[in-house]
Amino acid sequence: MCGIIGILGKAPVTPLLVEALKRLEYRGYDSAGVATLVNGHIERRRAEGKLVNLEARVAREPLPGIIGIGHTRWATHGKPSERNAHPIATDRVAIVHNGIIENFQELKDELVAEGRKFESDTDTEVVAQLLTSYLELQMSPEEAMGKAMGRLRGAFALVALFSGRHDILMGARRGSSLAVGYGEGEMYIGTDALALAPFTSRVSYLEDNDWVVLKADGCSVYQGTQKVERPIKKSGLSGDLMGKGNHQHFMLKEIHEQPAVIGDTLHSYLDPATRSVRLPSMPLDWTKVSRVTMTACGTAFYACMVAKYWFEKLARLPVEIEVASEFRYREPPLPEGGVCIAVSQSGETVDTLEALRYAQSQKQTLLSVVNVPESAIARLSNVVLMTRAGPEIGVASTKAFTTQLVVLLATAIGAGRARGTLSRQEEERLALAMIELPARINETLNMEEDYRRIAENTLAGARDVLYLGRGLSFPVALEGALKLKELSYIHAEGYAGGEMKHGPIALIDDAVPVVVVAPTDPIFDKIASNFEQVRARGGRLVLLSDARGVARLGAKAEMSIALPDVDPVVSPILYTVAVQLLAYYTALAKGTDIDQPRNLAKSVTVE
Ligand code: G6P
Repeated sequence: MCGIIGILGKAPVTPLLVEALKRLEYRGYDSAGVATLVNGHIERRRAEGKLVNLEARVAREPLPGIIGIGHTRWATHGKPSERNAHPIATDRVAIVHNGIIENFQELKDELVAEGRKFESDTDTEVVAQLLTSYLELQMSPEEAMGKAMGRLRGAFALVALFSGRHDILMGARRGSSLAVGYGEGEMYIGTDALALAPFTSRVSYLEDNDWVVLKADGCSVYQGTQKVERPIKKSGLSGDLMGKGNHQHFMLKEIHEQPAVIGDTLHSYLDPATRSVRLPSMPLDWTKVSRVTMTACGTAFYACMVAKYWFEKLARLPVEIEVASEFRYREPPLPEGGVCIAVSQSGETVDTLEALRYAQSQKQTLLSVVNVPESAIARLSNVVLMTRAGPEIGVASTKAFTTQLVVLLATAIGAGRARGTLSRQEEERLALAMIELPARINETLNMEEDYRRIAENTLAGARDVLYLGRGLSFPVALEGALKLKELSYIHAEGYAGGEMKHGPIALIDDAVPVVVVAPTDPIFDKIASNFEQVRARGGRLVLLSDARGVARLGAKAEMSIALPDVDPVVSPILYTVAVQLLAYYTALAKGTDIDQPRNLAKSVTVE
């Protein structure tokens, strides 16, 4: 979703703004723009589509200026056109914005009634016009921003550049993230530490309802009219532009990083010598937990689905899972002594954040599984369980998901141990299965050509694809279908194997490939029956199993792959890598935009 950068510098800023925007590309966007002050006047360059278009524009019409703001836009109000691209400006102020101004219509009606003319279809323009109306009443930029904050509803991060004021940049946040970077006589403001990394490692994170005034030698942060302090932290991120290494896409690089990042994550949660789980200390007693509620969006929600099986089986805990956007508005009663676990790569997804806030209002202990330590979700939680995936740039989540699974399995094992539902031998067995995972995933990655063949021969030409799985493999089937539709735009659905005969079986003919996720676990016979039901109707079967499963069913499938043998409890982690590769190579065969699929965003900061 939208990315923001602002620089109060000493040298021309346009190339730096564009460089920072490149680091925000991973969030997903459909237009981009920059604005600077030239002789005190606001000048803009904006372009629809990818950043190369903006770069070409800036090359044709250079934009001088030593103070400026930049933006990558993921359209919410108004289509992705140059007219609606940010910065949105009047003659007095230019604005970049992430989020949604929910009362924009009410404000717009007021401003139009005052005779103001709007030139875009964006909700953002009300901020520019509102600030302008205050500035015209002779308010200072500080007074105008303080007053505007009181009028705006919704979740947003904003940065403003004022004409005639080379000395200040202003920002404000409510909900969406915004960080301030400290340089030597230069100041920066941006969506996250990743955007600021080429300029500085000294970063402070704004809190909800903060607004900030940046000057060359520092900044002042306010809540309402009250001045507040936000600590400066050292960000460990590298200033180098994230590279793809030897890989064609970030997604492929990130798929290949999984053995390493799973290893890193295991390192934090397992003691290999004793084969036991070690969790951070938590303000809760698992024996007294009445219920676990898990919530997330997208791929992270499927991590909750897998974890539900684990917590129920290993810790004998009742678990409710729900997509955050439904959970937060249904406002279900949550029992005293409950734990709520939010799962989010970015730690920024607004629905997940609000769902966690709701759980807080219900006096739940808040745990989060996140990949970004300073994120809003991390900061709200009582306990943060970090995934060690490193920055994930491909919009479709891969290594973040598998590391979420590792953390959740370790937590379920820890809970099981504390509750006495898991024996020491069982814990050792599971710990060993986890320790072996990086090696098994490596073996799977070595079979990449097999996945490419299935993708090219069976999946890429299909209009619809079904994925079937049972038990722990059901969420993997859902994730496989999600990955395929995200990346290749082929319609795909995941089903619990047993549900197929209640509807989707009507779709089966020789044009619909059916991918069956079937490790030889205790319910293998059941999925084998579903496999036969597809076969009896002439369906084109792709089998993902292990050597035993392939020996039993492989001859009846159009294509099959024997994955390495693993303990069934950890199989979702391994089989996820297989469905990721199928989706990747299908998209590659179709020539779609793998790292930034159309219409998708990475950090979803709007509802
Ligand atoms: C977007 C991304 C998905 C991700 C979901 C939740 O839809 O494209 O890959 O799973 O958001 O994001 P989160 O950062 O909360 O895990």
